[in-house]
Formats: sequence, C-alpha cells, structure tokens
Amino acid sequence: MADAASLKNLFPTLNDIPEEHRLLSPIHQRIYLVNGELRSWEGKSQSVLSPVCTRQPDGSLRQIELGSYPIIGEAESDAALEAAVAAYNNGRGEWPTMSVAERISCVEKFTKQMVAQRRQVVQLIMWEIGKSLADSEKEFDRTVEYIKATIHALKELDNASSRFTVVEGTIGQIRRTPLGVVLCMGPFNYPLNETFCTFIPALIMGNTLVFKPPTYGTLLFYPLLEAFRSAFPKGVVNTVYARGSVVVPRMLGSGKVNVLALIGSSKVADHLKKQHPKSHRLRAILGLDAKNAAIVLPDADIELAVKECLLGSLSFNGQRCTALKMLLVHQAIVDPFLRRFTEEIAKLKVGMPWEKGVNITPLPAPGKTEYMSQLVEDAKSKGARVVNEGGGTVANTLFYPAVVYPVKEGMRLYREEQFGPVVPVATFENIETALDYVITSDHGQQVSIFGTNPDQIGSLVDPLVNQVCRVNVNAQCQRGPDVFPFAGRKDSAEGTLSVADALRSFSIRSMVATKQTEANEKLLDAIVLDHKSKFINTRYIF
Ligand code: G3H
Repeated sequence: MADAASLKNLFPTLNDIPEEHRLLSPIHQRIYLVNGELRSWEGKSQSVLSPVCTRQPDGSLRQIELGSYPIIGEAESDAALEAAVAAYNNGRGEWPTMSVAERISCVEKFTKQMVAQRRQVVQLIMWEIGKSLADSEKEFDRTVEYIKATIHALKELDNASSRFTVVEGTIGQIRRTPLGVVLCMGPFNYPLNETFCTFIPALIMGNTLVFKPPTYGTLLFYPLLEAFRSAFPKGVVNTVYARGSVVVPRMLGSGKVNVLALIGSSKVADHLKKQHPKSHRLRAILGLDAKNAAIVLPDADIELAVKECLLGSLSFNGQRCTALKMLLVHQAIVDPFLRRFTEEIAKLKVGMPWEKGVNITPLPAPGKTEYMSQLVEDAKSKGARVVNEGGGTVANTLFYPAVVYPVKEGMRLYREEQFGPVVPVATFENIETALDYVITSDHGQQVSIFGTNPDQIGSLVDPLVNQVCRVNVNAQCQRGPDVFPFAGRKDSAEGTLSVADALRSFSIRSMVATKQTEANEKLLDAIVLDHKSKFINTRYIF
C-alpha cells in the first residue's frame, strides 16, 4: 500500500543499512587531474547528497552526505583545456601520433585498473544516483564490455586500412585520424556508461580530452583518476570539476574545442554550439531529449505489451533517455490494458537501492519529486486522473509511480519529457492519431509498436522509420545491444553512437596519395619495411 507514511518507512535508520553496502567514510575529493598531475584543491567544494535518506530519531528524513568534490574556477578550467591542447599539439603530440596498437595497449592498461576499482565505483553509482545495486553492477560491467568491443572494432577498422589501394594510377592509403580536443560531458542517469560511450572512442582514436563529470554521479570517477593519470600520456585526459554554466561556454568560446560530446538537453547543446567562434570547426556528438511513445494496437498481446511497457516506462524509475514516456493505447483495449498495467505496477518493489529485486528507488536531483507532482497536478487540473492506487505519493525523494489517464494535448505530460516515474497514457481510435503524435513531436529517437497483424505492422514501420531511428516491434525502446546504431532525429541526437559508429564519429579519414611510379613504389616500400611512419604501414593488429 503506497501511502506517504509507509513510503517514508521504507527509508532506513542509519543502523538499518546493511554493513556490506555502507560507504566506509565520506569521500572528500580534493584533487583533480590536469596535465598528468593530480592537483590538489583548497578552494570551494560541492557537497554530495545521496537520494537515499535516513530516518532520524525525530521521525524526519535526511539525505545522507556522501562527501564533496572541488568546484574549480575559470583559471583551472583554462589550464585543463590548455593541457589538452598542448597534448594534442596540432596533431604532433605523443598521443595523436602514437600507433593504434600502442593506444590500444594504453586503454587496456586503463581498463585493468578500472576493473580493480569495480566495487567502489559500483557502490558510488548506487549511492550517488540511487540506481539499484543490480543495475549499478550491470552499468559497470556493460561499460567494461563496451570498452572491449571498442578495442575489437578498432582493430578491425585499422586492419582494413592497413593496405594500399591503387586507382587510376594513384596509390593511396586511407586511415581514420583524430579530430583534436574533445570536451566530454555525460549524464547523471548512466554516469559511467554513457560518459564512456563517448570518452573511450574519442580517446582511442587519438583525440585529447577535457572531461566534465555529470552534476550527479561525480564522485564515482574519483577512484578512476589515478588510472586516467597513469595509463595515458600527460594532458591526454584532463578533468574539470566546475559549474558547467561558468566554464563550459568559456571553453567553447575559446575556439579550442574541436568536438563537443554531450549527453544532455537540446537546449544546452544549442546554447553551447553557438559559443564556438567558428561553428563549422566544431563537431557535435549529442545524445539529447526524447519522448519515446508506445503504440498499442487493438490486436496486441496485452500481457506482452504490459510487460514491455512496464519495463520501458519504469526501469530505473523512468530515468532513461530511451524510456517509454507516452503510452498510446487503442480505445478498444485501453480498459484491459490499464487494469493489467496497474496490477503489475502494484507488484513493483519500492525500496532502497541495495535491496534485492527492488524496482523503484529514491530520485536524485533536488526538486525532482516536486517536479513529478507538478506534472501530475497539471494533468489532473485538465481532466486526467491517476489510475493506480497510491500513484504519485511522495516521501521526500521517493515517488510512487503514477499512471495518468487520459492524457491529452494541452497537458504538460503530453509533450514534456518527464524523465521519471510518471506514465502518461492516451488513447486513439484511428491509427493516424498515433502516427500524428510521433510526426508532430519535437523528438525523434525511437518508438515501440505492439500488435500481431503483419499488414498493419508493416505499414506502420515504413513511415515510422523515417520519423525515428529505431522502431521496436513488440518490445520496449532501448539502446542495446551496443553494436546497434544509437541515433536520433529532430531534438533527440546528433551523430550515431554504436561501438563501431562512435569510432567514426570521433575521427576523420585522412590519406596519403602518390602517383604510381617506380620511384614512389620504392619510397613507400622503404617506409613500410623500415617502419618509418605510424600512418603508412601495413601492420596487422591481432
Ligand atoms: O539514457 C539513455 C541510455 O543510453 C539508455 O540505455 O536503453 O540501455 O537503458 P538503455
């Protein structure tokens, strides 16, 4: 039963927290990495509160303090950028000119050290953003797999380029080369995974990096700083712990950032891109807003649709860019659908992130539960209602999922990306209404369709693939498997991020060409045989 008192009682007292999940002591990070040095910081710091609260003896709830991290200023962030610029050294630096095999071995060295920090990083993911322990472990392991898959993909890419091509009397060798300095910023919901899905490909392709950790999910990078420092040449990875609004536009305004890798909002991305003095020189790899819809057709297998819509809308409390954020259910089946959907919601386990089988956990970011309530109240004031028992009940950072129905144009929930445990449901009679919802949306990431009629599914897929970048049939929306292209249209993304595509996104083809004369053939032969160039070579990386 989800009333405020029982929700509140789900929070532990300090003593209730199982020994093995406690953080030994708060982490007060006072270092940051610039130019190969872990510099110490005595200035301002930001305290880090967990979304997990403890029940106090007086009955109140208090968010647990996890520690703090530096808030560096403009001078320090300028130094981080300068270090990345110097390490790139106009493409002449040690890192961008290193052989691919050598760069791979640095990344392997880093990965080994990262794996050694698994326990602490997983614990910090769980405590900082309230992700369940099982999902935090999954995030860590998936990231390690992603790095391994990236190394494999790069070997394939490089080996395919390890040859000369002769066309119309011209000999050429074509390889992918780095772009320069990459500013990398990840999101709070997958702080490790989504960050590394741009960070690692950017790095391994020979770019140098300035990395700003997400606002929530920051301390979890602390155990990795030494690995960043020791695995790569100095200046290749630099960290900026700072107010993004202060230092990020400044870095872009300097014109020294060549690639902006941001997983965040389209509003922020638009603002940042405009800061670059020569916008054509800035490549942007962006994962942005999304409002993926599920279209449930009248002949859908209701049990399957309910199961997938539940996973799609409420995994990690709905805080996934790929989450189903609007359910469009055909009028003919909306009643049984809602009945089964709300029955299944009632079975979800609400609790603390370390609990086995927990589904709904406390939300990070101040004001998040208030924001959820505002969206629900807005819809209620315009004629919708919460159809699941206890839906929308709040106890501090815990928000019991609310299924809101019928949601219509004009309600904030109809178009706004809620990014949390509120599930808006709308109905349609004519499929054109559902299609129109996707067409008129500002977002274009993915869609799910549920149905069994091949004629109808076929005729829906054709227009929908031109609106979004992945149409999921009888399945929730999701990013994985990571070798599949992850992209979006409209306000949802710029660039594509699969394991292999990301390598392309963070590089550009460059080539060496010469006329096919005997003298030039001899010259190339000598360069290859005597290993005179990292670029001109025919080496195979096993
Ligand atoms: O937040 C967006 C994530 O990339 C989604 O990944 O679909 O595997 O949860 P996922």
